[in-house]
Amino acid sequence: MSPSPVRPPVCPPAGSTAGSASDVLERCRELVRPALVEAVGRLHPWTGEMAAYALGWADTAGNPEPGGSEGKGVRQALAVLGAEAVGADGSDAVPGAVAVELVHTFSLLHDDIMDADALRRRRPAVWKAYGTGPAVLAGDALFAQAVATLAEARGRQTAAAVRCLARTLNALVSGQAEDLRFEHRPWRGPDAVGPDRYRMMAEQKTGALLGCAIALGAVLGGAPDRTVTVLERAGRHLGLAFQAVDDILGIWGDPAVTGKPVHADLRQGKKTYPVLTALAGEGRAARELGALLDSGRRVDGDTAEHVAALVEEAGGRIATREEARRHLDIARHTLRETPLTGTAAHQLDALFAHLLDRTW
Ligand code: IPE
Ligand code: MG
Ligand code: MG
Repeated sequence: MSPSPVRPPVCPPAGSTAGSASDVLERCRELVRPALVEAVGRLHPWTGEMAAYALGWADTAGNPEPGGSEGKGVRQALAVLGAEAVGADGSDAVPGAVAVELVHTFSLLHDDIMDADALRRRRPAVWKAYGTGPAVLAGDALFAQAVATLAEARGRQTAAAVRCLARTLNALVSGQAEDLRFEHRPWRGPDAVGPDRYRMMAEQKTGALLGCAIALGAVLGGAPDRTVTVLERAGRHLGLAFQAVDDILGIWGDPAVTGKPVHADLRQGKKTYPVLTALAGEGRAARELGALLDSGRRVDGDTAEHVAALVEEAGGRIATREEARRHLDIARHTLRETPLTGTAAHQLDALFAHLLDRTW
């Protein structure tokens, strides 16, 4: 075990125009980092080492990894911007930002075990690097630390913030439950997963935490309930757009860019939006796709390539792109339902748009 698994990572240079989405992500990362490092530093050294690995700060020997396997930091940025958008200082959101980043990291740790995904952010997933039992424990540790960080935040809004996080954790677990159970549902027929059930699942597994991130920033920034509700709704729609893009990248993404294996969702029988909408088509490709998936044949290698081509031909990729665009538009319109401070509102909007165009 390394003597100190939790070392602050080397800061990547800010390489973009002021006010651009990547600049905003970097600014928020810098603001939140000390508290995040401190929170991880409070963990048991072994779970702390795994957490530092999962966060992209260190390799499995505990050595700093400046190469950068850190995540996008979207959730912490949403929390900071949520506070700024309601006129508060971004630093008011820091406990919320730390909590959502820790929950996100925990959920990915456990998700890779559930989805049998061996790769995350271009490196072996934590369960591959350390073993399944330790990875489950590291996820639990992050979960507990997230709740503790928020519960210990000073201020009158702490109870409301913890309630928001608790609601979100329940939603996230329900979404994951649906996602896993859908694997065993038929592709077609009366028991097939319809688009509404898919959306409910995606909103829970992904949208809830994005909504919570902005909401927590607003709550900790002292915003009235109505504003918090609007911002949370915007974040949930952003989550639906985000998951649609994730589904696309899972089939047509470049593993060198996404850092995740391609076709994993197809191999695993995941009910993703591109496949579901492709199956709803009426042409030859949709029929062939349905027959192939119904046959129960292993979707691997060349078969996965063929399935991906059929999904595309049957319109699944375009429909998913439209779904992402639609929810992004709703999210951006929702932001306008409540008065927000100009700069932060602009930055939120830019960040939302940036996420639709991501390839990673
Ligand atoms: C992950 O969903 C959602 C949570 C971790 C709660 P996915 O399984 O679709 O995401 P990736 O593709 O593994 O990142
Ligand atoms: Mg997964
Ligand atoms: Mg999953």
